[in-house]
Amino acid sequence: MTKEALQELLEDMSLEEKIGQMNQVAGSFFLGASVATGPMAEKGFTQENIDRAGSAIGVSGAAAVKKVQKAYMEKHPHRIPLLFMLDVINGYKTVFPIPLGQGAAFEPELSMRCARMAAREAAVSGLHVTFSPMADLVRDARWGRVMESTGEDPYLNSLYATAMVRGYQGNDLRDRGSIAACIKHFAGYGAPDAGRDYNTVELSEHTLRQFYLPAYEAGVQAGAALVMTAFNTVEGIPATGNRRLMRQILRDEMGFDGVLISDWAAIEEMLCHGYCADRTQAARRAVAAGVDMDMMAGVYAEQLAALVQGGEVPETLIDEAVMRILTLKNALGLFEAPFKDADEEKEKEIILCEEHRALAREAARKSFVLLKNEGVLPLAPDTKTAYIGPYVDSRNLMGAWSLTGETKDVATLREAVLEQRADTDAVFCCGCPMTDRDMKLEGFLECMDEMVSAEEQQRMMDEAVEAAKACGRVVMLLGEDRRQSGEAASSAGIQIPGIQQELLDRVCAVCDQVAVVLFSGRPLDIRRIAEKAQAVLLAWMPGTEGARALVDVLSGRYAPSGKLPMSFPYCAGQVPVHYNEYPTGRPHVPGKDKDRFRSKYLDIPNAPLYPFGFGLTYTSFRVSPVRLDRDHMAKDDVLTASVTVRNTGPAEGTETIQLYIHDVAASVVRPIKELKGFCKVTLQPGEQKDICFPITERELRFLTENGRWESEPGAFEVFIGTSSLADMPARFVYG
Ligand code: GLC
Repeated sequence: MTKEALQELLEDMSLEEKIGQMNQVAGSFFLGASVATGPMAEKGFTQENIDRAGSAIGVSGAAAVKKVQKAYMEKHPHRIPLLFMLDVINGYKTVFPIPLGQGAAFEPELSMRCARMAAREAAVSGLHVTFSPMADLVRDARWGRVMESTGEDPYLNSLYATAMVRGYQGNDLRDRGSIAACIKHFAGYGAPDAGRDYNTVELSEHTLRQFYLPAYEAGVQAGAALVMTAFNTVEGIPATGNRRLMRQILRDEMGFDGVLISDWAAIEEMLCHGYCADRTQAARRAVAAGVDMDMMAGVYAEQLAALVQGGEVPETLIDEAVMRILTLKNALGLFEAPFKDADEEKEKEIILCEEHRALAREAARKSFVLLKNEGVLPLAPDTKTAYIGPYVDSRNLMGAWSLTGETKDVATLREAVLEQRADTDAVFCCGCPMTDRDMKLEGFLECMDEMVSAEEQQRMMDEAVEAAKACGRVVMLLGEDRRQSGEAASSAGIQIPGIQQELLDRVCAVCDQVAVVLFSGRPLDIRRIAEKAQAVLLAWMPGTEGARALVDVLSGRYAPSGKLPMSFPYCAGQVPVHYNEYPTGRPHVPGKDKDRFRSKYLDIPNAPLYPFGFGLTYTSFRVSPVRLDRDHMAKDDVLTASVTVRNTGPAEGTETIQLYIHDVAASVVRPIKELKGFCKVTLQPGEQKDICFPITERELRFLTENGRWESEPGAFEVFIGTSSLADMPARFVYG
């Protein structure tokens, strides 16, 4: 439709129809769930406003979507099509590594390809919008949703947000295989106090803007069609009712003119926050903040008409919101093609096709991070191996947000080993249950594994220890249960379940060739694992093809190349911990522990167990000292920083060379270093290559005391290395 036609449509719509467009309801409402009575009625849902809703969440599958769309449009006075939305976070049916694992690949382009394939599968299944990418910056491993982010660095997160938006949306939303992306959760949701989900967020505006906003802005600049509000407060006001955050910062400063949707029931939750006395005030404040769509609170549907008719809310606010929603539907081509890509035949052809599975396997391989290796990996073919641990036979490798991924499509580690005949005389033992008996997983119990008896548990462990004794080498497959990360899965203790640690301890007591493959949705305190095992390979939640990818890497056919996008803390007491910290006035200098009055702990080191950007491979590299082509840089200059990287080990390997810059003195304090570039390079044994990074004035900009993004003259240090531990900087003066 033309813009004029959209305007005419808007003008022809009744107030009830307009407000209906601002209402998102669960897809089950259209699939026969009763809405007119019970809790849903109390939430303001009636059959009438369901029939006028603008969007459905949670319906997918070409046949189901077409059935709902057809029935809905037949009843709608202007036959305005529904938008179908769902959380396609790391894949639809072909599930890729969790976003934190994708961040470990340090390859945004790869994630763009993953997002593109996820979009293809979602689109043929009738979906129009995904609630992804999550662009929240994270520093606290106690927060279960770190699994959904790409980590602790604004620059890396910005690249990923941009790549994923482009992957989902392609060149045009009307195109086949394109779905609309939704940047979330605006803003600052990744910084809840104490790492407890939905908790208060207290960030200075400077910190919010310097560290947390850039990735959201990158997603907006990439053209994200939607943004989702965060559950938390910002400066004491819930984001969902925060006019300054949404109208000034998001829309005016960042230039976002797409659809702003609330998070699930977040409009109503402003009552719990104590920001709104009732649902009437919640409706008024949310629409004043510019929230276009109410996800599943029923507040707009119940309250807005009276507010408009009573003159408390100008109808122009409604028109503004509805026009954005109609514009999105039009951009997707839904007025001409309300079923868009939904196609039962194409579903069979595209979903889980070999191309998608191959990409999922590549993405999984590149997500793995080798944290330790004392010669155990890759597995030499001449030694009998015991594969031990609760992940030996688990298909739950897709992470907490794989709503549509199915375990039937996932190979287990045992199957993958036997399928590839990578280890024909291997033995396999579960060794112990996934979780401890007293594991608190409220709300998940309906799908918790039944607990084994104490006797059975003992038998399993004894059997595993015997297998370890009989074999010369053990690969342990351990980790969090997938339900221990994700939404509403904060954890004060960030270790693997005690029963698994006990199994590891007993196995390491009888075998000194133990490699641990660690499945996790978050950084964990793995001191006791790293102490005991000779190798540790972090697998995150690797997705549909994760087990096959693991065998690819364990066997040595592919070398691991991942780098940590989020620091692995020494222990829970150390979080939040992140590499780009400020120096403080009393920086602790390692080795100078005698200096009492320094910023340090009495009982643990300052440094995380494994830092941001760290990851090993099956060879070794040497990086030369940093070379600069000048020691002074004027505003319009391009300074070139370079190093020579050499593969000094026995095998081909891929290294991610990272560029960090430190602004030595400025009008506000500056991090000890900030990632400003990286380059993946694959070298054969003995091969070397010069890696060059151009540095311009743009790389020196930050939020100054004037509240502007600008550079300031002064001294800068340039670090280039294989992790955020890079040292021996070169220095230049700018300005
Ligand atoms: C959830 C999440 C959000 C998700 C939405 C819809 O509560 O916070 O990330 O997209 O509801 O499922």
